[in-house]
Amino acid sequence: MKFFLANWKMHKTIGEALEFIDEFIPLVKDVSNKEIALAPTFLCLEKVHEALKGTNIKLCAQNVFYEKQGAYTGEISPLMLKDVGVDYVIVGHSERRKYFQENDEIINKKIKACNENGLKVIICIGETLEERQKNRTFEILKKQIIRGLEGISNFNNITIAYEPVWAIGTGIVANELQIKEAHLFIKEQLKEFAPKNSIRILYGGSVTADNIKKIMNIENVDGVLVGGASLNPVNFAKIIKYED
Ligand code: 13P
Repeated sequence: MKFFLANWKMHKTIGEALEFIDEFIPLVKDVSNKEIALAPTFLCLEKVHEALKGTNIKLCAQNVFYEKQGAYTGEISPLMLKDVGVDYVIVGHSERRKYFQENDEIINKKIKACNENGLKVIICIGETLEERQKNRTFEILKKQIIRGLEGISNFNNITIAYEPVWAIGTGIVANELQIKEAHLFIKEQLKEFAPKNSIRILYGGSVTADNIKKIMNIENVDGVLVGGASLNPVNFAKIIKYED
C-alpha cells in the first residue's frame, strides 16, 4: 500500500496538533487504499493517539533511543513509545544525523531495538549536496544501507525513506531521473539483505500538492515523507488524494 507520512518535526503544541487532526480526519476518512501516518513531537503522542482512535490514520514517533530503560536523561525507549500507541518510528533522519551526531552505528542499534519491540521503522537515508556534486551519491546510500541494516534479519517492519539532504526544506525537489535512479539503486541494495521482501521506499524532500503526482508516478516510489507541506491539514490531504 502506498504510504503518506507527515513529519511535523519540532512544530505544533498539543492544542495545535489536535486542531489539525479535527480538520484532517474528515478530509481523509474515505481514503482506504493508502496508508496514512502522522509524526508529531513526543509530547503530543498520547493526545494524538487518543484523537486518532478508530480512524484510518496511524501514529509515528520522530525518534527513539535504543536502550530499554536506565540513566539516559532526556531519552525515550521503544517500549515507552509502544505504551502510548505508536505504530511507526522515524530513525536516522538527516536532521538527527546533522544536529545530534547520529551515525549509522547508532541508527542500527535503534532499528534493532524497534524490531525487538514490534515497532515499524522508517529509516532515512540520503546524500548531501556536496556528496552529490562529488558523484558520491550511490556510495553514500550503499554505506548507509549496509551499516544501518547490519545484523538485521526481519525486514517485515522496515520502510526506507530516500531524502536527499539538499532537497529537505529547500523547495528544491529532486528531479524525476534523480529519484528514479536512487530508488532503483536502493531497491537493488535491499535485495542483498532481503531477497524476498518488498520493502517500501518513500521519497522525501520538498514534496507538495503541486509535485506529488509527478513523484508518485516514478518507478519504485512507494510513498512520501512530507515535512513542511504536512503542517496544514488541507495541504497534506491534497497530497494524499493527489489522484482525485
Ligand atoms: P520538507 O518536506 O519540509 O522538505 O521535509 C522533508 C523531510 O525532512 C521529511 O522528513
